[in-house]
Amino acid sequence: MTHYRIAPSILSADFARLGEEVQRVIAAGADWIHFDVMDNHYVPNLTFGPMVCAALKPYATVPLDVHLMVEPVDEMIQAFAKAGADIITFHPEASRHIDRSLSLIHDSGCRAGLVLNPATPVYVLEHVLDKLDVVLLMSVNPGFGGQKFIPHTLEKIEQVRSLTDLYAAESGRRILIEVDGGIKADNIAEVAAAGADTFVAGSAIFNQPDYAAVIAEMRRQLEKAGG
Ligand code: DX5
Ligand code: ZN
Repeated sequence: MTHYRIAPSILSADFARLGEEVQRVIAAGADWIHFDVMDNHYVPNLTFGPMVCAALKPYATVPLDVHLMVEPVDEMIQAFAKAGADIITFHPEASRHIDRSLSLIHDSGCRAGLVLNPATPVYVLEHVLDKLDVVLLMSVNPGFGGQKFIPHTLEKIEQVRSLTDLYAAESGRRILIEVDGGIKADNIAEVAAAGADTFVAGSAIFNQPDYAAVIAEMRRQLEKAGG
């Protein structure tokens, strides 16, 4: 039985009440809090930095999943580790030395992952599998919430799942597969069936008044998918 995780992205939360929003969504059943860091350089949008992360940390009683959409990444890795990040993921295109950046995340005491954009090939994972705790697959182009799920991602999830299954058989270590962008209760089951176990959802949760109802419906759909 797969253990599924739902990671609400606070990108779609009410920014004037972020602490409260984090508490509410955790009470509604969030497993992780997904924190989208955008720098208006690597992606065409600007969100929040390590100071906001540190301010939210006392409210986050579940792991803080920091998705860095910034370039360069190394200084931000250290700043976010200090600010209380539990998981840090970054885009390989944004780091000159991917292996070194992954080591930096681990040395800072966090779990590490790479993020693949819709057009980024899966082979970038092959030589760093032993340094990955999670692979984050973008199912939209990064930069904005509320975009439509790109269906081709399903094949890519299957591809990554075969790779991580093979690796798990050799190493005994399972790498999580997280999917980000356009996830809703009505497509989460097919994303899970393709091999994902961790689901980021921003607008689907925060644009509804009852967060618990959305998360419960997502879990019902996941049960159907076999979890
Ligand atoms: C996009 C971000 C996503 C985004 C997901 O660059 O990485 O985490 O917030 O939002 P929805 O679920 O609204 O597509
Ligand atoms: Zn994200």
